[in-house]
Amino acid sequence: MKEIIMPSILSADFSIMKEQLNDVKFAGADAIHCDVMDGHFVPNITFGPKFVEDCCKVSDLPFYVHLMIENPDQYLTQFAKPENVVEISVHEEACVHLHRTIQNIKALGKRTCVALNPHTPETNLDYVLEDLDAVLVMTVNPGFGGQKFIESQLKKIENLRKTADARGLKLDIQVDGGVDGETVKLIRNAGANMFVAGSYVFTNKTLSMAEAIKTLKI
Ligand code: DX5
Ligand code: ZN
Repeated sequence: MKEIIMPSILSADFSIMKEQLNDVKFAGADAIHCDVMDGHFVPNITFGPKFVEDCCKVSDLPFYVHLMIENPDQYLTQFAKPENVVEISVHEEACVHLHRTIQNIKALGKRTCVALNPHTPETNLDYVLEDLDAVLVMTVNPGFGGQKFIESQLKKIENLRKTADARGLKLDIQVDGGVDGETVKLIRNAGANMFVAGSYVFTNKTLSMAEAIKTLKI
């Protein structure tokens, strides 16, 4: 599976976002991860569709939108508007009619992804796996950057890769939360191929952006 390094702009400096998006591209990022939080599904508020759209105007990287919001169906069309938004993730825990929500994302022409909180078993996706391009395994409780990686999630990644292989699916497995130069090795070994990193890339005290991204690659 192709590997993708996706910095999360949650840890970027919003006051100089254009510059940050440019810097991260030249530092080697393959894509941009956008964390949308509503203060209900998670105890934090970030930004909405206008901010994502404006970021898309000043970057030609593909954007992956991670919706940590209740009732995501209501906002899908707005988040899907920019052409460089290539994928929308919704949380399994936030979707009462998950199958329908996935079809709605597909109908908007975007890649489909479902995110799982650390407590959510991967088997909750058994009946929708064929409809998904990716699963996003949260390795922290969503809401904030800079939290500690939860090791128990490695098993979930392994199980998902096994299930996808057994069913003949080319499923991307994304990992989000506490990804750094060390945890990335465990995550890669477990079978994930897309790595989201926020604080490790944007607020690293010892490594430059380019050095940090390099340590995330093989
Ligand atoms: C957490 C977000 C993450 C966050 C990760 O709720 O979904 O994308 O930016 O931050 P780090 O990489 O610092 O753990
Ligand atoms: Zn995220």
